[in-house]
Amino acid sequence: MHDETLVIDRYGVMGYPVSHSRSPVIHRLFALQTSQDIQYELLQVTPEKLEQAVRQFQRTNGRGLNITVPHKRAVFKLCDQLSERASTAGVVNTLVFQEGEVFGDNTDGIGLLRDLAVNLGVNVDGANILILGAGGATSGITGPLLEMQPRELVIANRTIDKAQALVEHFEKLGPVSACPFNMVPVTEPYDLIINATSAGLHGETPPYPEAAVSANTFCYDLSYGLKPTPFSLWAREHGASNSVMGWGMLVEQAAESFHLWRGIRPDTAPVLKQMKITA
Ligand code: ATR
Repeated sequence: MHDETLVIDRYGVMGYPVSHSRSPVIHRLFALQTSQDIQYELLQVTPEKLEQAVRQFQRTNGRGLNITVPHKRAVFKLCDQLSERASTAGVVNTLVFQEGEVFGDNTDGIGLLRDLAVNLGVNVDGANILILGAGGATSGITGPLLEMQPRELVIANRTIDKAQALVEHFEKLGPVSACPFNMVPVTEPYDLIINATSAGLHGETPPYPEAAVSANTFCYDLSYGLKPTPFSLWAREHGASNSVMGWGMLVEQAAESFHLWRGIRPDTAPVLKQMKITA
């Protein structure tokens, strides 16, 4: 019997739950655009089965994986080699299987930076930035943001200890501090506020700091959805003239993964346009 999985280069996204993921659509559009013959699958895997599932995928013509919630930290220790950015972040969102080894990378930070700089024209250099949340998503983006030399970067989180731990991890890279939501320092409104909490996924809006927003504040939600997210609604209600969801970061981090796997960089603009139209 002819088994397709043994001849076509396989890729996929592994998460739990994962059925909502747009990655298969994005990677199929990239493959079509660049004439790459690949298969991209949705792989729902529980935390207990993660290692077994990764090894099994690797053995059956798996060439690479995207790793999503809740596995980004756990998969770190399955990697034989890590990129510098993954090692700094402590979280991995992309695996490349090469010569029997597992290479781990993190394309979230570069994906966000590209979306901000190229697609949205937002300057991070010299900006004062507030990140809401201190989980895996914040770990992935803090290093790349600090490397762009913002004036300051404040991490506000419900659980202050987690924000403080990130500050200790990243403070050698630039000016970063931690606080709870009700103690966000506001000497002037922030240039950029990034929501990296998962609160919106549960339909919740934590007590985000209202004084941090002005008409000139660019509000960016790492979450995205068919309808405006709770954070993007909150931002507009509090006067932000620019409030966007993370569709651009999603497509840009995918393009970086695709480039790692196939050596070709897809054009993200038409795919982003199509995602927003079909969203
Ligand atoms: P991810 O990988 O998406 O970052 P995570 O590591 O579980 O997921 O982190 C989720 C983040 O959202 C955390 O900062 C969490 O706050 P705590 O550290 O206090 O748990 C934040 N979060 C989730 N639900 C929240 C809510 N209802 N209110 C405030 N913060 C919330």
